[in-house]
Amino acid sequence: MRIGILTGGGDAPGLNAVIRAVVRKASDIYGHAVIGFRNGWKGAIDAEVETLTPESVKGILPRGGTILGTSRTNPFKITDGVTKIQHTLQAFNIDALIAIGGEDTLGVASKLAELGIKTVGVPKTIDNDLSGTDYTFGFNTAVEIATEALDRLHSTAESHQRVMVVEIMGRHAGWIAIYSGLAAGADVVLIPERPFDLDEVCEHIVRRHHRGRTFSIVVVAEGATPKEGTFEQLADEKDSFGHVRLGGIANRLAPEIEKRTGFETRVTILGHVQRGGTPTAFDRVLATRLGIAAIDAVHEGESGVMVGLRGTEVVRVPLKEAVGVLKTVDDAIYAVAEVFFG
Ligand code: F6P
Repeated sequence: MRIGILTGGGDAPGLNAVIRAVVRKASDIYGHAVIGFRNGWKGAIDAEVETLTPESVKGILPRGGTILGTSRTNPFKITDGVTKIQHTLQAFNIDALIAIGGEDTLGVASKLAELGIKTVGVPKTIDNDLSGTDYTFGFNTAVEIATEALDRLHSTAESHQRVMVVEIMGRHAGWIAIYSGLAAGADVVLIPERPFDLDEVCEHIVRRHHRGRTFSIVVVAEGATPKEGTFEQLADEKDSFGHVRLGGIANRLAPEIEKRTGFETRVTILGHVQRGGTPTAFDRVLATRLGIAAIDAVHEGESGVMVGLRGTEVVRVPLKEAVGVLKTVDDAIYAVAEVFFG
Protein backbone atom coordinates (compact mmCIF):
# COMPACT_ATOMS: atom_id res chain seq x y z
CA MET A 1 0.00 0.00 0.00
CA ARG A 2 0.94 3.66 -0.38
CA ILE A 3 -0.27 5.76 2.54
CA GLY A 4 -0.44 9.56 2.72
CA ILE A 5 -0.01 11.37 6.04
CA LEU A 6 -0.50 14.99 7.04
CA THR A 7 -0.60 17.20 10.14
CA GLY A 8 -3.16 20.04 10.21
CA GLY A 9 -4.24 22.88 12.50
CA GLY A 10 -2.22 24.25 15.40
CA ASP A 11 0.87 22.16 16.11
CA ALA A 12 1.07 20.09 19.30
CA PRO A 13 3.99 18.35 21.01
CA GLY A 14 3.81 14.68 19.97
CA LEU A 15 3.05 15.12 16.25
CA ASN A 16 6.50 13.82 15.29
CA ALA A 17 6.06 10.82 17.58
CA VAL A 18 2.91 9.87 15.63
CA ILE A 19 4.65 10.31 12.27
CA ARG A 20 7.60 8.17 13.43
CA ALA A 21 5.30 5.40 14.73
CA VAL A 22 3.29 5.30 11.50
CA VAL A 23 6.40 5.22 9.29
CA ARG A 24 8.22 2.62 11.38
CA LYS A 25 5.35 0.14 11.53
CA ALA A 26 4.23 0.77 7.93
CA SER A 27 7.71 0.24 6.61
CA ASP A 28 9.36 -2.26 8.98
CA ILE A 29 6.34 -4.48 9.73
CA TYR A 30 3.86 -4.13 6.84
CA GLY A 31 6.14 -3.12 3.95
CA HIS A 32 3.93 -0.12 3.03
CA ALA A 33 5.24 3.19 1.67
CA VAL A 34 4.43 6.46 3.50
CA ILE A 35 4.15 9.77 1.67
CA GLY A 36 4.00 12.97 3.72
CA PHE A 37 1.96 15.98 2.59
CA ARG A 38 3.47 19.31 3.54
CA ASN A 39 1.55 21.86 5.61
CA GLY A 40 -1.71 20.03 6.23
CA TRP A 41 -4.45 19.97 3.59
CA LYS A 42 -2.50 22.64 1.66
CA GLY A 43 0.11 20.03 0.66
CA ALA A 44 -2.60 17.61 -0.46
CA ILE A 45 -4.16 20.35 -2.62
CA ASP A 46 -0.86 21.65 -4.07
CA ALA A 47 0.78 18.20 -4.36
CA GLU A 48 3.66 19.13 -2.06
CA VAL A 49 4.89 15.73 -0.93
CA GLU A 50 7.90 13.94 0.48
CA THR A 51 8.57 10.25 0.91
CA LEU A 52 9.03 9.28 4.56
CA THR A 53 11.32 6.41 5.51
CA PRO A 54 12.64 4.99 8.79
CA GLU A 55 15.84 6.87 7.96
CA SER A 56 14.09 10.22 7.44
CA VAL A 57 12.16 9.98 10.73
CA LYS A 58 15.23 9.06 12.76
CA GLY A 59 15.61 11.16 15.94
CA ILE A 60 12.25 12.97 15.73
CA LEU A 61 10.52 11.30 18.72
CA PRO A 62 11.44 14.01 21.27
CA ARG A 63 11.16 16.93 18.84
CA GLY A 64 8.35 19.47 19.20
CA GLY A 65 6.38 20.78 16.21
CA THR A 66 5.91 18.70 13.07
CA ILE A 67 8.52 17.79 10.47
CA LEU A 68 5.73 17.97 7.86
CA GLY A 69 4.68 21.53 8.67
CA THR A 70 1.08 22.50 9.26
CA SER A 71 -1.57 25.03 8.23
CA ARG A 72 -5.19 25.85 8.87
CA THR A 73 -6.16 25.35 5.19
CA ASN A 74 -9.75 24.22 4.63
CA PRO A 75 -10.08 22.47 1.22
CA PHE A 76 -13.86 22.96 1.31
CA LYS A 77 -13.28 26.76 1.32
CA ILE A 78 -10.90 26.67 -1.68
CA THR A 79 -12.12 26.50 -5.29
CA ASP A 80 -11.74 22.88 -6.50
CA GLY A 81 -9.91 22.08 -3.27
CA VAL A 82 -11.35 18.58 -2.95
CA THR A 83 -10.89 17.78 -6.68
CA LYS A 84 -7.25 18.83 -6.37
CA ILE A 85 -6.78 16.49 -3.39
CA GLN A 86 -8.29 13.65 -5.44
CA HIS A 87 -5.84 14.43 -8.28
CA THR A 88 -2.87 14.41 -5.88
CA LEU A 89 -3.94 11.06 -4.45
CA GLN A 90 -4.21 9.61 -7.96
CA ALA A 91 -0.94 11.15 -9.14
CA PHE A 92 1.00 9.57 -6.25
CA ASN A 93 -1.02 6.32 -6.18
CA ILE A 94 -2.11 6.90 -2.59
CA ASP A 95 -4.46 4.18 -1.28
CA ALA A 96 -5.33 5.75 2.06
CA LEU A 97 -4.74 8.86 4.16
CA ILE A 98 -3.84 9.38 7.81
CA ALA A 99 -4.88 12.85 8.98
CA ILE A 100 -3.52 14.05 12.32
CA GLY A 101 -5.44 17.01 13.66
CA GLY A 102 -8.17 18.57 15.74
CA GLU A 103 -11.84 19.15 15.02
CA ASP A 104 -11.16 21.13 11.81
CA THR A 105 -8.62 18.79 10.19
CA LEU A 106 -10.61 15.72 11.22
CA GLY A 107 -13.85 17.39 10.11
CA VAL A 108 -12.35 17.57 6.62
CA ALA A 109 -11.12 13.95 6.96
CA SER A 110 -14.62 12.85 7.88
CA LYS A 111 -16.14 14.52 4.80
CA LEU A 112 -13.44 13.06 2.51
CA ALA A 113 -14.15 9.58 3.90
CA GLU A 114 -17.83 10.09 3.01
CA LEU A 115 -16.71 10.96 -0.53
CA GLY A 116 -14.98 7.58 -0.75
CA ILE A 117 -11.39 8.55 0.09
CA LYS A 118 -10.02 6.04 2.60
CA THR A 119 -9.15 8.14 5.64
CA VAL A 120 -8.17 7.44 9.24
CA GLY A 121 -7.87 10.22 11.84
CA VAL A 122 -5.52 10.74 14.78
CA PRO A 123 -6.70 13.22 17.45
CA LYS A 124 -4.37 16.11 18.24
CA THR A 125 -4.83 19.37 20.10
CA ILE A 126 -3.31 20.91 23.18
CA ASP A 127 -6.86 22.08 23.99
CA ASN A 128 -8.03 18.47 24.70
CA ASP A 129 -11.48 19.36 23.36
CA LEU A 130 -12.01 16.53 20.86
CA SER A 131 -14.75 14.00 21.57
CA GLY A 132 -14.11 10.29 21.09
CA THR A 133 -10.91 10.31 23.12
CA ASP A 134 -10.25 10.88 26.82
CA TYR A 135 -7.05 12.80 26.06
CA THR A 136 -5.38 14.29 23.03
CA PHE A 137 -1.58 14.32 22.91
CA GLY A 138 -0.06 17.76 23.46
CA PHE A 139 -2.47 18.48 26.30
CA ASN A 140 -0.30 16.93 29.00
CA THR A 141 2.73 18.89 27.79
CA ALA A 142 0.76 22.15 27.71
CA VAL A 143 -0.51 21.54 31.26
CA GLU A 144 3.05 20.90 32.48
CA ILE A 145 4.29 24.13 30.88
CA ALA A 146 1.38 26.17 32.28
CA THR A 147 1.78 24.63 35.74
CA GLU A 148 5.46 25.46 35.85
CA ALA A 149 4.69 29.04 34.82
CA LEU A 150 2.02 29.35 37.53
CA ASP A 151 4.41 27.98 40.16
CA ARG A 152 6.99 30.57 39.15
CA LEU A 153 4.42 33.38 39.14
CA HIS A 154 3.39 32.44 42.70
CA SER A 155 6.74 33.45 44.18
CA THR A 156 6.95 36.81 42.43
CA ALA A 157 3.27 37.54 43.18
CA GLU A 158 3.89 36.81 46.85
CA SER A 159 7.04 38.95 47.03
CA HIS A 160 5.23 41.97 45.57
CA GLN A 161 1.77 41.31 47.10
CA ARG A 162 0.19 41.40 43.65
CA VAL A 163 -2.67 39.85 41.76
CA MET A 164 -1.38 37.94 38.72
CA VAL A 165 -3.80 37.42 35.84
CA VAL A 166 -2.46 34.57 33.73
CA GLU A 167 -3.92 33.92 30.28
CA ILE A 168 -3.80 30.33 29.11
CA MET A 169 -4.75 28.78 25.74
CA GLY A 170 -8.19 27.26 25.25
CA ARG A 171 -10.47 28.66 22.64
CA HIS A 172 -13.72 26.81 23.30
CA ALA A 173 -12.72 24.65 26.26
CA GLY A 174 -10.84 25.45 29.44
CA TRP A 175 -9.08 22.11 29.95
CA ILE A 176 -5.53 23.51 30.17
CA ALA A 177 -6.69 26.32 32.46
CA ILE A 178 -8.60 24.05 34.86
CA TYR A 179 -5.89 21.35 35.01
CA SER A 180 -2.96 23.74 35.45
CA GLY A 181 -5.04 25.88 37.83
CA LEU A 182 -5.73 22.82 39.96
CA ALA A 183 -2.15 21.60 39.77
CA ALA A 184 -0.69 24.97 40.76
CA GLY A 185 -3.34 26.04 43.29
CA ALA A 186 -4.87 28.97 41.38
CA ASP A 187 -7.25 31.19 43.37
CA VAL A 188 -9.73 31.72 40.52
CA VAL A 189 -10.03 29.92 37.16
CA LEU A 190 -12.13 31.42 34.35
CA ILE A 191 -13.06 29.15 31.44
CA PRO A 192 -15.21 29.47 28.29
CA GLU A 193 -17.73 26.94 29.63
CA ARG A 194 -18.64 29.21 32.59
CA PRO A 195 -19.27 32.87 31.71
CA PHE A 196 -17.85 34.90 34.58
CA ASP A 197 -19.03 37.85 36.62
CA LEU A 198 -16.10 40.17 37.30
CA ASP A 199 -17.65 41.39 40.56
CA GLU A 200 -17.62 37.80 41.87
CA VAL A 201 -14.01 37.37 40.77
CA CYS A 202 -13.07 40.53 42.68
CA GLU A 203 -15.03 39.34 45.73
CA HIS A 204 -12.98 36.10 45.76
CA ILE A 205 -9.76 38.11 45.64
CA VAL A 206 -10.80 40.57 48.37
CA ARG A 207 -12.06 37.74 50.63
CA ARG A 208 -8.76 35.93 50.21
CA HIS A 209 -6.80 39.06 51.11
CA HIS A 210 -9.04 39.62 54.15
CA ARG A 211 -8.08 36.12 55.30
CA GLY A 212 -4.49 37.29 55.41
CA ARG A 213 -3.26 36.23 51.97
CA THR A 214 -1.23 38.95 50.30
CA PHE A 215 -1.40 37.82 46.67
CA SER A 216 -3.73 36.03 44.22
CA ILE A 217 -3.37 34.03 41.03
CA VAL A 218 -6.22 34.37 38.53
CA VAL A 219 -6.07 31.89 35.63
CA VAL A 220 -8.10 32.87 32.58
CA ALA A 221 -8.56 30.73 29.47
CA GLU A 222 -8.27 32.90 26.36
CA GLY A 223 -11.82 31.99 25.30
CA ALA A 224 -13.41 32.85 28.67
CA THR A 225 -16.28 35.28 28.34
CA PRO A 226 -18.06 37.57 30.78
CA LYS A 227 -21.71 37.09 31.67
CA GLU A 228 -23.84 39.11 29.30
CA GLY A 229 -23.83 42.84 29.94
CA THR A 230 -21.07 42.72 32.59
CA PHE A 231 -18.00 43.44 30.49
CA GLU A 232 -17.34 44.58 26.93
CA GLN A 233 -16.13 42.01 24.33
CA LEU A 234 -13.94 43.03 21.41
CA ALA A 235 -14.46 41.75 17.84
CA ASP A 236 -11.66 39.43 16.64
CA GLU A 237 -10.20 38.37 13.28
CA LYS A 238 -11.32 34.95 11.89
CA ASP A 239 -9.42 32.08 10.20
CA SER A 240 -10.59 29.87 7.29
CA PHE A 241 -12.50 27.56 9.64
CA GLY A 242 -14.31 30.61 11.08
CA HIS A 243 -12.47 30.63 14.43
CA VAL A 244 -11.67 33.97 16.01
CA ARG A 245 -8.02 34.69 16.76
CA LEU A 246 -8.05 35.17 20.50
CA GLY A 247 -5.61 36.60 22.98
CA GLY A 248 -5.94 39.59 25.21
CA ILE A 249 -8.71 38.87 27.72
CA ALA A 250 -6.15 39.12 30.56
CA ASN A 251 -5.14 42.59 29.41
CA ARG A 252 -8.76 43.66 29.57
CA LEU A 253 -9.37 42.08 32.99
CA ALA A 254 -6.28 43.22 34.90
CA PRO A 255 -6.88 47.01 35.02
CA GLU A 256 -10.48 46.37 35.99
CA ILE A 257 -9.45 44.00 38.81
CA GLU A 258 -6.90 46.54 40.03
CA LYS A 259 -9.53 49.30 39.96
CA ARG A 260 -12.23 47.28 41.73
CA THR A 261 -10.02 45.61 44.40
CA GLY A 262 -7.33 48.23 44.90
CA PHE A 263 -4.62 45.54 44.63
CA GLU A 264 -1.74 46.00 42.21
CA THR A 265 -2.31 43.63 39.29
CA ARG A 266 -0.02 42.26 36.55
CA VAL A 267 -0.62 40.21 33.40
CA THR A 268 1.15 37.18 31.93
CA ILE A 269 0.03 35.76 28.59
CA LEU A 270 1.61 32.34 28.09
CA GLY A 271 0.64 32.09 24.39
CA HIS A 272 2.43 29.75 22.00
CA VAL A 273 5.09 28.73 24.50
CA GLN A 274 2.42 26.22 25.63
CA ARG A 275 2.62 24.48 22.23
CA GLY A 276 6.37 24.54 21.74
CA GLY A 277 9.22 22.22 22.60
CA THR A 278 9.60 18.60 23.55
CA PRO A 279 6.56 16.48 24.48
CA THR A 280 6.27 14.97 27.97
CA ALA A 281 6.81 11.21 28.33
CA PHE A 282 3.01 10.79 28.65
CA ASP A 283 2.43 12.56 25.31
CA ARG A 284 5.23 10.63 23.58
CA VAL A 285 3.70 7.33 24.67
CA LEU A 286 0.13 8.38 23.77
CA ALA A 287 1.21 9.72 20.36
CA THR A 288 3.17 6.55 19.63
CA ARG A 289 0.24 4.30 20.60
CA LEU A 290 -2.13 6.34 18.43
CA GLY A 291 0.27 6.26 15.46
CA ILE A 292 0.55 2.47 15.68
CA ALA A 293 -3.24 2.13 16.00
CA ALA A 294 -3.74 4.38 12.95
CA ILE A 295 -1.43 2.38 10.68
CA ASP A 296 -3.03 -0.86 11.91
CA ALA A 297 -6.48 0.53 11.02
CA VAL A 298 -5.32 1.58 7.55
CA HIS A 299 -3.66 -1.81 7.00
CA GLU A 300 -6.95 -3.52 7.88
CA GLY A 301 -8.81 -1.40 5.31
CA GLU A 302 -10.68 0.82 7.81
CA SER A 303 -11.93 4.27 6.80
CA GLY A 304 -13.95 7.07 8.40
CA VAL A 305 -12.61 6.24 11.86
CA MET A 306 -10.44 7.98 14.42
CA VAL A 307 -8.20 6.19 16.88
CA GLY A 308 -8.65 7.44 20.43
CA LEU A 309 -7.90 6.72 24.07
CA ARG A 310 -10.76 5.37 26.19
CA GLY A 311 -9.62 4.61 29.71
CA THR A 312 -6.37 2.76 29.15
CA GLU A 313 -7.36 1.28 25.78
CA VAL A 314 -6.81 2.65 22.29
CA VAL A 315 -10.06 2.24 20.36
CA ARG A 316 -11.55 3.15 16.96
CA VAL A 317 -14.46 5.60 16.91
CA PRO A 318 -16.39 6.97 13.91
CA LEU A 319 -14.80 10.24 12.75
CA LYS A 320 -18.26 11.76 12.55
CA GLU A 321 -18.81 11.11 16.24
CA ALA A 322 -15.42 12.60 17.15
CA VAL A 323 -15.98 15.89 15.32
CA GLY A 324 -19.70 16.26 16.05
CA VAL A 325 -19.56 17.89 19.48
CA LEU A 326 -16.67 19.47 21.36
CA LYS A 327 -15.61 17.87 24.63
CA THR A 328 -15.84 20.67 27.19
CA VAL A 329 -14.85 20.86 30.86
CA ASP A 330 -17.33 18.88 32.93
CA ASP A 331 -19.08 20.12 36.05
CA ALA A 332 -17.32 17.60 38.30
CA ILE A 333 -13.80 18.83 37.60
CA TYR A 334 -14.91 22.47 37.77
CA ALA A 335 -16.50 21.80 41.18
CA VAL A 336 -13.15 20.49 42.45
CA ALA A 337 -11.35 23.65 41.29
CA GLU A 338 -14.09 25.88 42.75
CA VAL A 339 -13.40 24.61 46.29
CA PHE A 340 -10.13 26.56 46.15
CA PHE A 341 -11.50 29.83 44.74
CA GLY A 342 -10.90 32.86 46.94
O1 F6P B 1 -6.23 24.94 18.87
C1 F6P B 1 -5.08 25.04 19.60
C2 F6P B 1 -4.74 26.49 19.88
O2 F6P B 1 -3.48 26.52 20.51
C3 F6P B 1 -5.77 27.25 20.72
O3 F6P B 1 -5.64 27.00 22.10
C4 F6P B 1 -5.49 28.67 20.33
O4 F6P B 1 -6.62 29.48 20.49
C5 F6P B 1 -5.13 28.54 18.89
O5 F6P B 1 -4.66 27.25 18.69
C6 F6P B 1 -4.11 29.55 18.43
O6 F6P B 1 -3.97 29.43 17.06
P1 F6P B 1 -2.80 30.06 16.20
O7 F6P B 1 -1.60 29.19 16.38
O8 F6P B 1 -3.32 30.01 14.81
O9 F6P B 1 -2.55 31.43 16.71
